[in-house]
Amino acid sequence: MYIHIPFCKSKCDFCFYVSVTGTSEEERFSYLNALEREISVRWSVYAGKQPVVNSLYIGGGTPSILSMKQWKALAMTLTRFWDLRAIPEFTVECNPSSTTQEKLGFFKEIGVNRLSFGVQNVDNSILTAMGREGTKDTLPGLLESTRSSGINNINCDILFGLPGEAAASVVQSVDALVELSVPHISVYPFTLQTMTGLFRRMVFKDALPLPAYLRIAHYQGAINRLLEWKYLRIHTAHFGISYNYECVQHRNYWDGGEILGFGVSAQSFVDGCYLRNTKDLNKYVKNNDNILSIPLSEKDQIRRWVFMGLTKKLRFHYEEMVDRFGLDSLAVIEEGLERMVQEGMILKKQNMAQLTDKGMDHSYLIPIRYFHFENQDYLRYALRIPVKKV
Ligand SMILES: C[S@@+](CC[C@H](N)C(=O)[O-])C[C@H]1O[C@@H](n2cnc3c(N)ncnc32)[C@H](O)[C@@H]1O
Ligand code: SF4
Repeated sequence: MYIHIPFCKSKCDFCFYVSVTGTSEEERFSYLNALEREISVRWSVYAGKQPVVNSLYIGGGTPSILSMKQWKALAMTLTRFWDLRAIPEFTVECNPSSTTQEKLGFFKEIGVNRLSFGVQNVDNSILTAMGREGTKDTLPGLLESTRSSGINNINCDILFGLPGEAAASVVQSVDALVELSVPHISVYPFTLQTMTGLFRRMVFKDALPLPAYLRIAHYQGAINRLLEWKYLRIHTAHFGISYNYECVQHRNYWDGGEILGFGVSAQSFVDGCYLRNTKDLNKYVKNNDNILSIPLSEKDQIRRWVFMGLTKKLRFHYEEMVDRFGLDSLAVIEEGLERMVQEGMILKKQNMAQLTDKGMDHSYLIPIRYFHFENQDYLRYALRIPVKKV
C-alpha cells in the first residue's frame, strides 16, 4: 500500500511530484479527512478478499512535514483499517529538515521500521540553487537520532544530473553516506519534467542542463564508487550493504504485485488494471471521483512484467514468467527479446535474461522499441514515456 502526503516546506526546482507549499493546519486536516474517506470507501472493496499487506509506504511530498497532531490523527485513521505493527515493512519518506526526535520516537511507536531520507547531494550550493536546504552538516546527527530511536533500516536518496553539478560532488555524496553506514542508497537520475520550476528556468536560459555525456559520467562514477565500497546492486537504482535491505515495496511493484495507492496522484495496480487518482488536490479533497483507469490485456501484463523485471531488477527468469502467465507467454515477448540480444541490450542465459550495461543505460527504450504495448495510454500515463515507436 502507498499513501501520498502532498505537502512540502518549499518546492525544490527539480521536483515533479505532486506537492504544495504554504498550506494551513486546516488545509492539511481537510486532506487527512479526505484520505480517511478514500481509504474507507476503497478498502471496503478489497478487504473482503483478505489481502496480505506486506508493505506500507507513506511517501510524498514530505510526510515528515506533518505536525505531531497531524501524525497522531493519521495514525488513528490507519489503525482503524490495519494493524500497523504487523505490517512487515512500514516506510515513511522524510526530509531531513523536518524530521524531529519527537517524530522519530512516534514513528517507532506506531510500527514504522524503515525511513527514507532525501539527501540528493552533500554539496549545499547545488541544493540551495534548487531552492532546497542543504543537509550536509545535520545529516550525521539525524542518522544518529534515527538509530537511537530504534529504526535502523535507512535509505538515503541521491539525485544526480542537476545543473552545475561536478562529478566530484556525486562521488562525495556517495562517500558521505557510506561513511555514515547508510545501509541502503538510491541513486536517481534527474529527469526533467515540464511542470517543474527548473524546466521554466531552462527555457528562459536561467539554468543550463548538464550535457548528456556528463550525466552518464556522473552516473557511472556514482555506481562504480558504490560497487568499490562493496555495496550490492539490488535493483537498477538501489544499492544495499546486503540483500536484506531490499525494499519490499519496490520488489512487490517490480514483481508485478498488486499495489493500492491512496491520496492525491496515488497510483494503484489491481486486478490487471492501472489506476491513478486525480492530481488536483482541490478535486481530491472535495471528492476523489476522478480516477484514471487503464485496464491491461493479458499480453500487456506480460510485457509490463518483463519490462519491469528487466529495468528495475535487471533480469527476469523464464520459469517465473511461465508460472505466472502460462507457456504461451513466451510467444508474446520472443521477437522483442531476440532483437534486444542482437542490439546488445540483454544477455540470454539458460533460464533467464539479464540487462547489459548498454541495456541499463537505455532501458527507457524497452517498451517503445522492443515490446509494443497494445494500450498506449499505459505508457503515456503510467510510465510517462512518449508513445512513438523507435
Ligand atoms: C518524493 S521525494 C520525497 C523525499 C523528501 N520530500 C525530500 O525531498 O527530502 C523522493 C525523491 O524523488 C527524487 N526526485 C525528485 N525529483 C526528481 C526528478 N526530477 N528526477 C528524479 N528524481 C527526483 C528525489 O531524489 C527525492 O528524494
Ligand atoms: S524533492 Fe521532496 S521536498 Fe523537494 S519538492 Fe519534491 S517532495 Fe518536496
